[in-house]
Amino acid sequence: MSRSLKLNNGNEIPIVGLGTYKSKPGEVAQAVKDAIDAGYRHFDCAWFYGNENEVGLGLNAKIDDGTVKREDIFVTSKLWNNFHEKKCVLPKIKETLAALKLDYLDLYLIHWPFGFKENAPLWPVGEVDSYSDVDYLETWQAMEECVKQNLTKSIGVSNFNAAQIERILENCTIKPAVNQVEVNPNLNQKKLIDFCKKHDIVITGYCPLGRSEFAGTPGFPDPTIFDPKVKEIGEKYRKTPAQVVLNYLGQPGEVETAILNAIEAGYRHFDCAWFYGNEKEIGNAFNEAITKKLIKREDIFITSKVYITVKFFLQLLFIKDFVAALE
Ligand SMILES: NC(=O)c1ccc[n+]([C@@H]2O[C@H](COP(=O)([O-])OP(=O)(O)OC[C@H]3O[C@@H](n4cnc5c(N)ncnc54)[C@H](OP(=O)(O)O)[C@@H]3O)[C@@H](O)[C@H]2O)c1
Repeated sequence: MSRSLKLNNGNEIPIVGLGTYKSKPGEVAQAVKDAIDAGYRHFDCAWFYGNENEVGLGLNAKIDDGTVKREDIFVTSKLWNNFHEKKCVLPKIKETLAALKLDYLDLYLIHWPFGFKENAPLWPVGEVDSYSDVDYLETWQAMEECVKQNLTKSIGVSNFNAAQIERILENCTIKPAVNQVEVNPNLNQKKLIDFCKKHDIVITGYCPLGRSEFAGTPGFPDPTIFDPKVKEIGEKYRKTPAQVVLNYLGQPGEVETAILNAIEAGYRHFDCAWFYGNEKEIGNAFNEAITKKLIKREDIFITSKVYITVKFFLQLLFIKDFVAALE
């Protein structure tokens, strides 16, 4: 149904996913089944949502009836704040897997960068004694163990800022593949997205339509889906305001768009260079065009160039990166 992005470990994540937070008991299994029939392949779950059992019923019903195979779907779950201690992490991912009735997750995230004591309430707002001082670097070591034990294919974080991710990058053996944060036109997260791009970390944006439960509340911007301009664009293109916003957020970057437009316009010779600093994005666009069968690899002629002040072996590495993006 939708495009995928390549994670820094080579796995792919479909760009559109079904959120399961606040999905009601008695309804969520059916919602998951309907979503699979509608083409969704990415499901965003969490221990905290308290409904992984039912989400698992929906997923397994569609695997059992042959609509999808396990490897066709991408399932994310998240470690809740009360379980940041190293000893809690493996038992918690195993609890999630048992609830979902799956052998492995595609992605496991630390839900928030701050932790609560294990026996504290699940959301002890203002109860200072309930906060834990476990460093999320300790948690990250246990997240890496989850990959080593094949309990999840990828690991990442959620609601982390750049400084917090930097600490993980300096102290990890497996880099975070994803940072899941709120992203919508009122909270575009440009700086954080640029930071994550630089470190090859994919951003998953939640609340893409904004927070309509706070509409009209002083101090909260109205979600963009209520913006008259968005409504007007929707009317012009016969799309709902939600479709306009999702299309805007899911746009490929400027370089990818330019290459895809050029391919569509008939260009077949692309002049690139390491020095231009955009070969990764160009490679992603070629990759997308080839995957969508708009062109074959042999239809396009690609030039790249070495740069004189960079040592030769480094340039070889960059060429390898470029070729890897094309594969
Ligand atoms: N990592 C985290 O900390 C975190 C935090 C929050 C969310 N998430 C993830 O992100 C998922 C999505 O969260 P979300 O808050 O964006 O939930 P959502 O289910 O997408 O809905 C957000 C709001 O948008 C409205 N809405 C949904 N579809 C609409 C449409 N087609 N047209 C107009 N309005 C529409 C809903 O209104 P109605 O209520 O009227 O339907 C709802 O109030 C969650 O389920 C969860 O998986 C993660």
